Amino acid sequence: MPQSTPPAKPWAGRFNAPTDAFVEAFTASVDFDRRLYRYDIQGSIAHATMLARQGILSSAERDAIVSGLEAVRARIEAGEFQWSIPLEDVHMNVESALTDSIGDAGKKLHTGRSRNDQVATDVRLWLREEIDLIGHAIADLQRVLLRLAEREADALMPGFTHLQVAQPVTFGHHMLAWFEMLDRDRDRLADCRRRLNVMPLGAAALAGTTYPIDRQYTAELLGFDRPSENSLDAVSDRDFAIEFTADAAILMMHLSRFSEELILWSSAQFAFVEMSDSFCTGSSIMPQKKNPDVPELVRGKSGRIFGHLMGLLTLMKGQPLAYNKDNQEDKEPLFDTVDNLKGSLKAYTGMMQGITCNHARMRDAAARGFSTATDLADYLVRKGIPFRDAHEIVGKAVALGVGEGRDLGELSLTELRQFSDAIEADVYSVLTLEGSVAARDHLGGTAPAQVRAAVARARQRLTGLGGADGG
Ligand code: ARG
Repeated sequence: MPQSTPPAKPWAGRFNAPTDAFVEAFTASVDFDRRLYRYDIQGSIAHATMLARQGILSSAERDAIVSGLEAVRARIEAGEFQWSIPLEDVHMNVESALTDSIGDAGKKLHTGRSRNDQVATDVRLWLREEIDLIGHAIADLQRVLLRLAEREADALMPGFTHLQVAQPVTFGHHMLAWFEMLDRDRDRLADCRRRLNVMPLGAAALAGTTYPIDRQYTAELLGFDRPSENSLDAVSDRDFAIEFTADAAILMMHLSRFSEELILWSSAQFAFVEMSDSFCTGSSIMPQKKNPDVPELVRGKSGRIFGHLMGLLTLMKGQPLAYNKDNQEDKEPLFDTVDNLKGSLKAYTGMMQGITCNHARMRDAAARGFSTATDLADYLVRKGIPFRDAHEIVGKAVALGVGEGRDLGELSLTELRQFSDAIEADVYSVLTLEGSVAARDHLGGTAPAQVRAAVARARQRLTGLGGADGG
């Protein structure tokens, strides 16, 4: 931004030469940390309110500061604020604008404070709000999964191990597996929020301040659970940023796994599900293509978020106490993590609303894969045959089926009985897919009745969280 007279630096008193123009731009953070303006102003208002209550500012000064800061906020929100690179960061831009508009009282705002405790406070206030929004976004996606799980509680599909058909499951049960992963993600973020919600303000530059401040009061004003215990730790700690990014990385890892499955399932080879056209794109050259762009992009985005976790760990690993300018590098990875995480959750919530199942294809895939072989073994065990022998008998039956191109349920009783005369006509009830899933009728099992009960319990866990309805 062109600036006629460069604003004076707050540290001009000690310096003989102006900042090199390149260094000024190189060290400035205002291009990205201006995003924190609301939290910076919120923190400053609380700080000024506390200073006045302690008799460090007069109430007239406090009132001028508070209304001045509110006016600055209004100007920023109206797009009328001139951000200045020479003023380095959001903190000095806001403070300088305040002083320009209210005069000397503005210069008193920074009493008993440093940008070091200020920035640590701003980032925590911002991230706390984002964590709450992300928690709601996760719950919204979970609700969509519950609706899908309920709708598809009876839908048969193959369950896989090693991506080989293993045993039949229901699509609803599979959706509930995704639900559980997201539930842990929500819980992890809530836990991160708990440790984040501690106030650095009052630590000042690193050692605290000589003014008779009341940190408990400022913490209450800002909704923090308590002030930090140690001033050196308070200004330098970025554990909360690393924890948040770790939680985000795990969440993105989950979304990436979901994506991998959706990409496979929507391929012509599987054709288990269809995504709505509004969440797919075509090809500019191949007219037949309908590409699962959203899951692919989400799978891809997991990469940058894992990278941000490594970036933040590396940012911190060599830093001596207390604040170092290195810490300015915490913001862009955090912003990018939040933006991409929220984007991915939003895209998923929309996309999962439009998923339809191709029941015939899913059922057929389960029926083709000898997925009831374990059920046959369990049947033999119930007839008194030791499991290891039963496993052997079923193996032979499967080998026959493979040779004949027929599934177990398509072999005749005579064919089956050549491997064991314990096999009787009632065997066909366990060889059906419906019989197989219905038999897994315990908490956590895939039986449709269990899936419905699990959906009901899951809804209970989500109630009271806000957002969309529970249904
Ligand atoms: N822009 C800085 C940051 O993001 C603010 C704190 C600067 N403090 C300092 N002593 N230079 O970390």
